[in-house]
Amino acid sequence: YGTQKINSNGHLEIGGVDAEELARIYGTPLIVYDIALVRDRARSFLKAFEEEGVSGQVAYASKAFSSIAMFRIVRDEGLSLDVVSGGELYTAIRSGYPAERIHFHGNNKSEEEIRMAFREGVGCIVVDNFHEIGMIEQISEELALPMDVLIRVTPGIEAHTHDFITTGQEDSKFGFDLNNGQADEAFRLLSGISRIRILGLHCHIGSQIFDTAAFNLAAGSLMRKVAAWREEDGYTCPVLNLGGGFGIRYTDEDHPLEPEEYVRAMIRTVKEAAAESDYPVPELWIEPGRSLVGEAGTTLYTAGSEKEVPETRTYLSVDGGMSDNIRPALYGAAYSSAAALRMDEPHTSAYTIAGKCCESGDKLIEQAYLPDVEPGDLIAVFCTGAYGYAMASNYNRMPRPAVVFVEDGDHRAAIRRETYDDLIRLELEAAGIGKEEV
Ligand code: LLP
Repeated sequence: YGTQKINSNGHLEIGGVDAEELARIYGTPLIVYDIALVRDRARSFLKAFEEEGVSGQVAYASKAFSSIAMFRIVRDEGLSLDVVSGGELYTAIRSGYPAERIHFHGNNKSEEEIRMAFREGVGCIVVDNFHEIGMIEQISEELALPMDVLIRVTPGIEAHTHDFITTGQEDSKFGFDLNNGQADEAFRLLSGISRIRILGLHCHIGSQIFDTAAFNLAAGSLMRKVAAWREEDGYTCPVLNLGGGFGIRYTDEDHPLEPEEYVRAMIRTVKEAAAESDYPVPELWIEPGRSLVGEAGTTLYTAGSEKEVPETRTYLSVDGGMSDNIRPALYGAAYSSAAALRMDEPHTSAYTIAGKCCESGDKLIEQAYLPDVEPGDLIAVFCTGAYGYAMASNYNRMPRPAVVFVEDGDHRAAIRRETYDDLIRLELEAAGIGKEEV
């Protein structure tokens, strides 16, 4: 998985660093990012645009793993950034992200968040609803500042991993319905606001998608809409943003294409649709999250207790769980694993890997094959780089793990492990008491 290797000691090696060394220095649970893989993914997306001769922006969907250190990596690779909240925007600004490369999303932006976006001078706001149009109009007047916007639409295509469905109407809290007049009304209203420039349309049809067909369908319907607007209004939109959602390989059951193949397919569809309606080929923007950072992340845990349920399963508990990766419990998500220091031994004993949270559903992998595990063994769970740390919690007052970046045999901490003091810090502040009094 990813670019992990087995070294001559039979240990898992990530980015040229032995997993044993990482666990010794940083402790477990530990989330390790192979930064070369993130860079490689970023470059292949950009290369797809270059080779297809279409200009575009690749915006990292920062919700997948929002941190200053990761923002600096993707910034240096030339990517843009999709943020969905004041908190993500704040993190981006603190990381030194060029504001003009930040795209501000969200289905319920507050006035304060919209003001922040104007003041920071973000590259664009992705407008989601009529309430927001009113606030944008008022704030652009109040601050006398311009803003570029994309109109987020739901094209009635829902993709779920392997397949997709098309519906006339999409039941989604996001965006304007493309097919029932909402999007047209949003276009009309935004066209009438003097400091606002409409860049074009945005859609995001789902996540962990394996097939190009749904993306192509979405690209086609967005192109038809902008062509219709040009007929009526004479206005040509310079940008289409087709979101993210490109699938990755969590287990052997997953068969995604190379991430850039999705982009190539979209570009070709947009070019064809543009040619059909004699429309200038717009810039194409995408927003990959999972496919940039998912496979680059590996979580290292230490094995602890075991419990056998005769004729059913053996539970192997590790020192983390749903507090650092809620995806199995929340979505039934599947992952692969290995015994990180016994990689060359046969992995033939079946375990259910469980976490240490006080909840039966706190399982990481239903059926994992490992050697016969001893307490203290290091267990690696692969492809945890997207929506793992990002969705981590302090349930059961579990301190969140440390995050480390490895590259070319070097390692550096990106986020330090939380301490027990971190867990009670806000309470101490609120109660106005010093640590010494506890
Ligand atoms: N753009 C928009 C507007 C989005 O809503 C999303 C994800 C993305 C881009 C990035 O999608 P990606 O390339 O990462 O699939 N927590 C869930 C995933 C939620 C995705 C939400 N939106 C999970 O752990 O699977």
